[in-house]
Parts: sequence; structure tokens; C-alpha cells
Amino acid sequence: MNAPAKTEDFVATIPAGVFAETVTSVQHYTDHLFRFRMTRPESFRFRSGEFAMIGLMVGDKPIYRAYSIASPSWDEELEFFSIKVPDGPLTSHLQQIKPGDTVLMRKKPTGTLVLDALTPGKRLYMFSTGTGIAPFASLIRDPETYEKFDEVILTHTCREVAELKYGFDLVEEIRNHEFLAEVVGDKLRHYATVTREDFPFKGRITDLISNGKMFADLGLPRFDPAVDRGMICGSSAMLKETKALLEQAGLTEGANSKPAEFVIERAFVD
Ligand code: A2P
Repeated sequence: MNAPAKTEDFVATIPAGVFAETVTSVQHYTDHLFRFRMTRPESFRFRSGEFAMIGLMVGDKPIYRAYSIASPSWDEELEFFSIKVPDGPLTSHLQQIKPGDTVLMRKKPTGTLVLDALTPGKRLYMFSTGTGIAPFASLIRDPETYEKFDEVILTHTCREVAELKYGFDLVEEIRNHEFLAEVVGDKLRHYATVTREDFPFKGRITDLISNGKMFADLGLPRFDPAVDRGMICGSSAMLKETKALLEQAGLTEGANSKPAEFVIERAFVD
């Protein structure tokens, strides 16, 4: 079923207490990935890296899923990066949205991938697979990230090269941005790897950390809890294995209520 048309009947069925926003642009990257942008309610505040519950009316019921907000907190629009699951209760509908359509958003954002949950450090690693790059798309466009860290390393691993495009576009956008380019300077490094196709950088990030190749490629020393901080977003297995590697190196997991050396968040999927 298509996303419902914006008829008066539809507007009348929007649940109370949620924002109903208008899609401004949609870009499809592959058969499985797309991003969309939508209007941002003036009263909606969030910290870069947080997620919100995004939904659509399907029939007469709203369906919501957790989505990391991919735009930074200063952006006047909201951006999301999504998978397309053919039978996904939400994404099978969401992938069909067009500019002008209405998307619902619950009012309260939340999440652990925020700068406040980390103790001060020099180097911030952001480890992502697939759509797990979304919260980092927000954080790498936030000047506060560069006020707090001298070096920011975004790792992004996907099965295929085409799935890396969102990340490459983002970094390009930052390099050409009228004020971000200066704030970011050469502090941001992007380490993109692929697991199921030929590419200059190949392999799972967990393997590249374990065998030292990531450090060699970046010309950096191995993790040091005194200066390195981490954020992880991917599948449950990826989170578990990456977390174990950081813990082996002596970093401890933090939270909003108890900042420490790294934080994790699941990439939410249907
Ligand atoms: P692989 O191709 O070897 O499975 P997915 O689409 O399944 O979420 O995977 C996205 C990327 O994350 C793929 O490149 C995949 O590698 C990688 N990946 C999957 N599981 C793990 C894991 N446990 N640790 C690190 N990377 C993983």
C-alpha cells in the first residue's frame, strides 16, 4: 500500500501529540538504501546523534520505528537514512514517500550516541556499518564535535561499494560547506571499507582493528584509553564484537548519566 495521500480525512486521523511533517526531498542510493529530508518543527530540539520515532499512517493506524536523526542539531530540516525492507511494516511504505508527503514523528528524541556521554579525549572514533552511519552523519556536521576532539575518524563498512555513497557524499558536502569546511579543517577522516566487493579497503572493521590494518592505514597508534574515545552503531553482532575490542584495549562504556570512554547504539531496522 502506498503512503496515504494528504487528504482532509488523512489529516483528521493524525494521532494527537505527534508532529506531522512534510517531506522536502528523497534520494535513493541502492535498492536497499535511501535518505529523505523533511521539515523540522520549530519546537523540536535534539542533541546531534540522538534518535526519534518516525512513522506513517498505514491504513488507519500509525506505525513507528526508531530512526537516528542524520542531520545536525543546527539544521533547519531533519534528515534520515533508511534501509528498504520489502516486507518491512514501515520501510515498505516509507521507501515510497515523495516530496510533499506527510511523515509522523513522536515528540521526544533520545539516545546514547551523544558527546555528553563521553569523557574528554583527543581522538573520537565513530564505527558504523550500513545505516549505522546515520547518527554520525549528524555528529560530523556538528561544530561541537570538533571543539571537543582534535581528530574525528568515521569508519563505515558495507557489503558493497554503492552502499558507501551516502558517506562519501556527506564528507564531500562538509568539505564544500561555507562554514563547516573551516570548522572541520583536516580533523575529519573517513575510513570506508567493503566486505563483498573489490575496493582499496576491504574487510570487517572488527578484523581490521584486530589485525592492526585500520591503524596502519590511518597511520595511528592502537587504542589508548587516555586519549581515544569511541561511538559504535551497527547490527547487534557488530556492536558486541566492536565493544569487546574497545574493552580489551581498556576503554569502558559510558552513558548519559555516567560519561566514559565509549558508547554504543543499535542501528534500528524493521
Ligand atoms: P559481511 O559482509 O562480512 O557480513 P549487514 O548488511 O549484514 O548489516 O552488514 C553490513 C556490514 O557489516 C557488512 O560489511 C558486514 O560484513 C559487516 N558486519 C556484519 N556483521 C559484523 C560483525 N559482527 N562485526 C563487524 N562487521 C560486521
